[in-house]
Amino acid sequence: MRIAHSADELRRQLKPLRSHQTIAFVPTMGCLHAGHMNLIEKAGELADIVVVSIYVNPLQFGTGEDLDAYPRTFDVDAALCAGAGVNFLFYPATLYPKSGPKITLKATRLSNCLCGASRPGHFDGVITVVNILFNIIQPDFAVFGEKDWQQLTIIRRMVKDLQMPVEIIGSEIIREADGLAMSSRNRYLSNTDHSQALALSQALTAMQQSALAGETSVGVLKHIAQSIFDTASIQTEYLDVRSANSLKARHILDKQPARAFVAARVGNARLIDNMPLELNISPEPATCTEDSQ
Ligand code: PAJ
Repeated sequence: MRIAHSADELRRQLKPLRSHQTIAFVPTMGCLHAGHMNLIEKAGELADIVVVSIYVNPLQFGTGEDLDAYPRTFDVDAALCAGAGVNFLFYPATLYPKSGPKITLKATRLSNCLCGASRPGHFDGVITVVNILFNIIQPDFAVFGEKDWQQLTIIRRMVKDLQMPVEIIGSEIIREADGLAMSSRNRYLSNTDHSQALALSQALTAMQQSALAGETSVGVLKHIAQSIFDTASIQTEYLDVRSANSLKARHILDKQPARAFVAARVGNARLIDNMPLELNISPEPATCTEDSQ
Protein backbone atom coordinates (compact mmCIF):
# COMPACT_ATOMS: atom_id res chain seq x y z
CA MET A 1 0.00 0.00 0.00
CA ARG A 2 1.33 3.44 -0.93
CA ILE A 3 0.53 6.46 1.22
CA ALA A 4 0.25 9.87 -0.45
CA HIS A 5 0.29 13.08 1.56
CA SER A 6 -0.50 15.54 -1.21
CA ALA A 7 -2.72 15.77 -4.28
CA ASP A 8 0.31 16.02 -6.60
CA GLU A 9 1.90 12.92 -5.09
CA LEU A 10 -1.30 10.86 -5.49
CA ARG A 11 -1.89 12.09 -9.05
CA ARG A 12 1.69 11.08 -9.95
CA GLN A 13 1.18 7.63 -8.43
CA LEU A 14 -2.14 7.00 -10.18
CA LYS A 15 -1.26 8.40 -13.61
CA PRO A 16 0.53 5.33 -15.06
CA LEU A 17 -2.32 3.02 -13.95
CA ARG A 18 -5.26 4.91 -15.41
CA SER A 19 -5.00 3.67 -19.00
CA HIS A 20 -5.43 0.00 -18.16
CA GLN A 21 -6.89 -0.27 -14.62
CA THR A 22 -10.17 0.80 -13.03
CA ILE A 23 -10.22 2.73 -9.76
CA ALA A 24 -12.73 2.47 -6.88
CA PHE A 25 -12.58 5.16 -4.21
CA VAL A 26 -13.76 5.20 -0.58
CA PRO A 27 -13.65 8.65 1.06
CA THR A 28 -13.52 8.64 4.88
CA MET A 29 -12.66 10.84 7.83
CA GLY A 30 -10.72 7.98 9.45
CA CYS A 31 -11.20 6.22 12.79
CA LEU A 32 -12.12 3.25 10.63
CA HIS A 33 -14.58 0.61 11.80
CA ALA A 34 -16.37 -2.38 10.25
CA GLY A 35 -18.73 -0.02 8.37
CA HIS A 36 -15.79 1.59 6.54
CA MET A 37 -14.10 -1.78 6.03
CA ASN A 38 -17.22 -3.10 4.33
CA LEU A 39 -17.09 -0.19 1.85
CA ILE A 40 -13.43 -0.97 1.20
CA GLU A 41 -14.28 -4.62 0.55
CA LYS A 42 -17.02 -3.56 -1.91
CA ALA A 43 -14.54 -1.26 -3.64
CA GLY A 44 -12.14 -4.18 -4.05
CA GLU A 45 -14.87 -6.20 -5.78
CA LEU A 46 -15.67 -3.33 -8.15
CA ALA A 47 -12.30 -2.29 -9.53
CA ASP A 48 -8.62 -3.19 -10.00
CA ILE A 49 -7.31 -0.42 -7.73
CA VAL A 50 -8.73 0.73 -4.37
CA VAL A 51 -8.02 4.25 -3.13
CA VAL A 52 -9.07 5.29 0.40
CA SER A 53 -8.83 8.86 1.67
CA ILE A 54 -8.62 9.94 5.30
CA TYR A 55 -9.33 13.61 5.79
CA VAL A 56 -11.26 15.28 8.60
CA ASN A 57 -12.84 17.98 6.46
CA PRO A 58 -13.14 21.25 8.42
CA LEU A 59 -15.60 22.65 5.88
CA GLN A 60 -18.37 20.23 6.91
CA PHE A 61 -18.19 21.00 10.65
CA GLY A 62 -20.22 23.89 12.05
CA THR A 63 -19.13 26.18 14.89
CA GLY A 64 -19.39 24.36 18.22
CA GLU A 65 -19.25 20.93 16.52
CA ASP A 66 -16.62 18.26 17.22
CA LEU A 67 -13.93 19.15 14.59
CA ASP A 68 -11.11 19.30 17.18
CA ALA A 69 -12.35 16.33 19.19
CA TYR A 70 -13.00 14.13 16.14
CA PRO A 71 -10.99 10.92 16.73
CA ARG A 72 -7.77 10.73 14.70
CA THR A 73 -6.25 7.25 14.67
CA PHE A 74 -4.06 7.26 11.57
CA ASP A 75 -1.61 4.46 12.46
CA VAL A 76 -4.37 1.96 13.26
CA ASP A 77 -6.35 3.08 10.17
CA ALA A 78 -3.33 2.64 7.90
CA ALA A 79 -2.71 -0.88 9.25
CA LEU A 80 -6.38 -1.76 8.68
CA CYS A 81 -6.22 -0.45 5.11
CA ALA A 82 -3.01 -2.34 4.35
CA GLY A 83 -4.57 -5.54 5.75
CA ALA A 84 -7.67 -5.04 3.61
CA GLY A 85 -5.64 -4.81 0.39
CA VAL A 86 -6.04 -1.04 -0.17
CA ASN A 87 -3.60 0.04 -2.89
CA PHE A 88 -3.40 3.78 -2.18
CA LEU A 89 -4.11 5.66 1.03
CA PHE A 90 -4.54 9.41 0.57
CA TYR A 91 -3.81 11.31 3.79
CA PRO A 92 -3.48 15.01 2.96
CA ALA A 93 -2.65 17.60 5.62
CA THR A 94 -5.19 19.92 3.96
CA LEU A 95 -7.17 20.17 0.75
CA TYR A 96 -7.76 23.92 0.84
CA PRO A 97 -5.62 27.01 0.24
CA LYS A 98 -4.14 28.66 3.38
CA SER A 99 -6.60 31.55 3.13
CA GLY A 100 -9.52 29.12 2.97
CA PRO A 101 -11.55 28.05 -0.07
CA LYS A 102 -12.94 30.88 -2.21
CA ILE A 103 -15.05 28.60 -4.42
CA THR A 104 -17.39 26.00 -2.93
CA LEU A 105 -20.37 23.94 -4.06
CA LYS A 106 -23.89 24.36 -2.73
CA ALA A 107 -26.46 21.62 -2.26
CA THR A 108 -29.88 23.15 -2.61
CA ARG A 109 -33.25 21.50 -2.05
CA LEU A 110 -32.08 18.07 -0.84
CA SER A 111 -30.14 19.70 1.97
CA ASN A 112 -32.82 21.73 3.71
CA CYS A 113 -34.28 18.83 5.70
CA LEU A 114 -32.98 16.21 8.19
CA CYS A 115 -29.26 16.77 8.97
CA GLY A 116 -29.12 19.69 6.53
CA ALA A 117 -31.69 21.59 8.59
CA SER A 118 -29.90 21.00 11.90
CA ARG A 119 -26.37 21.43 10.47
CA PRO A 120 -26.56 24.43 8.10
CA GLY A 121 -23.79 24.32 5.48
CA HIS A 122 -22.77 20.76 6.39
CA PHE A 123 -23.65 19.23 3.02
CA ASP A 124 -22.07 22.14 1.13
CA GLY A 125 -18.84 21.21 2.92
CA VAL A 126 -19.33 17.52 2.13
CA ILE A 127 -19.96 17.96 -1.59
CA THR A 128 -17.14 20.50 -1.92
CA VAL A 129 -14.59 18.09 -0.44
CA VAL A 130 -15.97 15.06 -2.31
CA ASN A 131 -15.76 17.06 -5.54
CA ILE A 132 -12.11 17.97 -4.78
CA LEU A 133 -11.33 14.32 -3.99
CA PHE A 134 -13.03 13.15 -7.20
CA ASN A 135 -11.01 15.69 -9.20
CA ILE A 136 -7.75 14.40 -7.73
CA ILE A 137 -8.51 10.68 -7.90
CA GLN A 138 -10.85 10.55 -10.93
CA PRO A 139 -12.30 7.23 -9.82
CA ASP A 140 -14.54 5.00 -11.94
CA PHE A 141 -16.54 4.08 -8.82
CA ALA A 142 -17.01 5.69 -5.41
CA VAL A 143 -18.57 3.78 -2.51
CA PHE A 144 -20.65 5.49 0.20
CA GLY A 145 -22.59 4.07 3.16
CA GLU A 146 -26.36 4.14 3.51
CA LYS A 147 -25.74 5.08 7.15
CA ASP A 148 -25.50 8.66 5.85
CA TRP A 149 -28.50 8.29 3.52
CA GLN A 150 -28.97 12.02 2.94
CA GLN A 151 -25.27 12.40 2.11
CA LEU A 152 -25.49 9.48 -0.35
CA THR A 153 -28.62 11.00 -1.96
CA ILE A 154 -26.99 14.43 -2.32
CA ILE A 155 -23.79 12.96 -3.76
CA ARG A 156 -25.77 10.92 -6.31
CA ARG A 157 -27.52 14.13 -7.29
CA MET A 158 -24.27 16.11 -7.48
CA VAL A 159 -22.81 13.52 -9.86
CA LYS A 160 -25.96 13.61 -11.99
CA ASP A 161 -26.44 17.39 -12.07
CA LEU A 162 -22.75 18.16 -12.64
CA GLN A 163 -22.29 15.28 -15.14
CA MET A 164 -19.40 13.79 -13.23
CA PRO A 165 -17.98 10.60 -14.80
CA VAL A 166 -18.11 8.41 -11.70
CA GLU A 167 -20.55 5.70 -10.64
CA ILE A 168 -21.82 6.07 -7.07
CA ILE A 169 -22.36 2.80 -5.20
CA GLY A 170 -24.42 2.72 -1.98
CA SER A 171 -23.65 0.12 0.65
CA GLU A 172 -25.76 -1.21 3.53
CA ILE A 173 -25.49 -0.02 7.13
CA ILE A 174 -23.19 -2.13 9.29
CA ARG A 175 -24.37 -2.48 12.90
CA GLU A 176 -23.02 -3.76 16.20
CA ALA A 177 -24.52 -7.11 17.26
CA ASP A 178 -26.96 -5.17 19.48
CA GLY A 179 -28.23 -3.07 16.56
CA LEU A 180 -26.35 0.21 17.12
CA ALA A 181 -25.22 1.57 13.74
CA MET A 182 -21.42 1.70 13.68
CA SER A 183 -19.98 5.20 13.75
CA SER A 184 -16.64 6.80 14.55
CA ARG A 185 -18.60 8.90 17.05
CA ASN A 186 -19.64 5.78 19.04
CA ARG A 187 -16.25 6.23 20.76
CA TYR A 188 -17.73 9.17 22.63
CA LEU A 189 -20.32 6.86 24.27
CA SER A 190 -19.95 5.51 27.82
CA ASN A 191 -21.47 2.07 28.54
CA THR A 192 -24.61 3.77 29.85
CA ASP A 193 -24.78 6.01 26.78
CA HIS A 194 -24.38 2.95 24.56
CA SER A 195 -27.38 1.21 26.18
CA GLN A 196 -29.41 4.40 25.82
CA ALA A 197 -28.35 4.76 22.17
CA LEU A 198 -29.88 1.39 21.33
CA ALA A 199 -33.25 3.19 21.37
CA LEU A 200 -32.41 4.61 17.92
CA SER A 201 -32.27 1.27 16.09
CA GLN A 202 -35.03 -0.15 18.31
CA ALA A 203 -37.40 2.71 17.44
CA LEU A 204 -36.66 2.43 13.72
CA THR A 205 -37.13 -1.35 13.85
CA ALA A 206 -40.47 -0.88 15.61
CA MET A 207 -41.56 1.51 12.83
CA GLN A 208 -40.38 -0.97 10.23
CA GLN A 209 -42.28 -3.85 11.82
CA SER A 210 -45.47 -1.82 12.21
CA ALA A 211 -45.27 -0.83 8.53
CA LEU A 212 -44.82 -4.47 7.57
CA ALA A 213 -47.84 -5.32 9.72
CA GLY A 214 -49.92 -2.89 7.64
CA GLU A 215 -49.67 0.49 9.39
CA THR A 216 -49.57 3.19 6.71
CA SER A 217 -49.97 6.34 8.81
CA VAL A 218 -46.64 8.10 9.36
CA GLY A 219 -48.19 9.86 12.37
CA VAL A 220 -48.91 6.51 14.04
CA LEU A 221 -45.45 5.16 13.15
CA LYS A 222 -43.76 8.22 14.65
CA HIS A 223 -45.88 7.87 17.76
CA ILE A 224 -44.67 4.26 18.18
CA ALA A 225 -41.04 5.40 17.87
CA GLN A 226 -41.58 8.39 20.15
CA SER A 227 -42.76 6.17 23.02
CA ILE A 228 -39.47 4.20 22.76
CA PHE A 229 -37.48 7.45 22.88
CA ASP A 230 -39.52 8.67 25.85
CA THR A 231 -38.82 5.43 27.75
CA ALA A 232 -35.09 5.79 27.00
CA SER A 233 -35.19 9.53 27.94
CA ILE A 234 -33.90 10.50 24.52
CA GLN A 235 -34.80 13.81 22.99
CA THR A 236 -34.53 13.48 19.23
CA GLU A 237 -33.17 16.23 17.01
CA TYR A 238 -35.47 14.91 14.30
CA LEU A 239 -37.63 11.85 13.70
CA ASP A 240 -38.89 11.84 10.16
CA VAL A 241 -40.26 9.69 7.35
CA ARG A 242 -39.34 10.71 3.81
CA SER A 243 -39.33 9.37 0.28
CA ALA A 244 -36.13 7.40 -0.14
CA ASN A 245 -34.91 9.18 -3.29
CA SER A 246 -36.45 12.66 -3.31
CA LEU A 247 -36.37 13.06 0.51
CA LYS A 248 -39.86 14.60 0.29
CA ALA A 249 -41.86 14.46 3.54
CA ARG A 250 -44.34 11.58 3.72
CA HIS A 251 -47.59 11.33 5.64
CA ILE A 252 -48.75 7.99 4.29
CA LEU A 253 -46.83 4.91 3.21
CA ASP A 254 -47.63 3.50 -0.21
CA LYS A 255 -45.71 1.72 -2.95
CA GLN A 256 -43.19 4.60 -3.25
CA PRO A 257 -40.07 3.63 -1.25
CA ALA A 258 -39.89 5.46 2.09
CA ARG A 259 -37.34 5.61 4.91
CA ALA A 260 -37.45 6.56 8.55
CA PHE A 261 -34.68 8.85 9.79
CA VAL A 262 -33.58 9.82 13.27
CA ALA A 263 -30.89 12.00 14.84
CA ALA A 264 -30.35 12.35 18.58
CA ARG A 265 -27.70 13.48 21.01
CA VAL A 266 -26.69 10.74 23.43
CA GLY A 267 -24.04 11.72 25.99
CA ASN A 268 -21.42 13.65 24.00
CA ALA A 269 -22.30 12.08 20.67
CA ARG A 270 -24.68 13.16 17.95
CA LEU A 271 -25.96 9.92 16.41
CA ILE A 272 -27.95 9.29 13.24
CA ASP A 273 -29.67 6.19 11.85
CA ASN A 274 -32.20 5.27 9.18
CA MET A 275 -34.13 2.26 7.91
CA PRO A 276 -36.38 1.48 4.94
CA LEU A 277 -40.11 1.24 5.61
CA GLU A 278 -41.80 -1.36 3.47
CA LEU A 279 -45.45 -2.15 3.35
CA ASN A 280 -46.29 -5.81 3.09
CA ILE A 281 -48.30 -5.26 -0.07
CA SER A 282 -49.89 -8.57 -1.03
CA PRO A 283 -49.88 -9.47 -4.72
CA GLU A 284 -52.93 -8.48 -6.78
CA PRO A 285 -55.62 -11.13 -6.30
CA ALA A 286 -55.95 -13.45 -9.29
CA THR A 287 -58.83 -12.25 -11.44
CA CYS A 288 -59.47 -15.47 -13.28
CA THR A 289 -59.78 -18.71 -11.33
CA GLU A 290 -61.33 -22.01 -12.29
CA ASP A 291 -64.19 -21.36 -9.84
CA SER A 292 -65.11 -18.03 -11.38
CA GLN A 293 -65.19 -19.28 -14.92
P1 PAJ B 1 -17.15 9.11 7.52
O1 PAJ B 1 -18.12 9.48 8.57
O2 PAJ B 1 -15.77 8.68 7.91
O3 PAJ B 1 -17.79 7.99 6.64
C1 PAJ B 1 -17.12 7.50 5.50
C2 PAJ B 1 -18.06 6.57 4.77
O4 PAJ B 1 -18.39 5.46 5.63
C3 PAJ B 1 -19.42 7.24 4.42
O5 PAJ B 1 -19.81 6.84 3.12
C4 PAJ B 1 -20.35 6.68 5.48
O6 PAJ B 1 -21.70 6.63 5.07
C5 PAJ B 1 -19.78 5.28 5.65
N1 PAJ B 1 -20.19 4.67 6.93
C6 PAJ B 1 -20.00 5.16 8.17
N2 PAJ B 1 -20.56 4.33 9.10
C7 PAJ B 1 -21.12 3.31 8.42
C8 PAJ B 1 -21.87 2.14 8.79
N3 PAJ B 1 -22.14 1.86 10.05
N4 PAJ B 1 -22.29 1.31 7.81
C9 PAJ B 1 -22.03 1.58 6.50
N5 PAJ B 1 -21.33 2.67 6.09
C10 PAJ B 1 -20.89 3.52 7.02
O7 PAJ B 1 -19.07 10.42 5.62
C11 PAJ B 1 -17.96 10.93 5.79
O8 PAJ B 1 -16.95 10.36 6.51
C12 PAJ B 1 -17.60 12.28 5.19
O9 PAJ B 1 -18.77 13.07 5.10
C13 PAJ B 1 -16.93 12.17 3.79
C14 PAJ B 1 -17.85 11.52 2.76
C15 PAJ B 1 -15.61 11.39 3.89
C16 PAJ B 1 -16.61 13.59 3.27
O10 PAJ B 1 -15.78 14.26 4.15
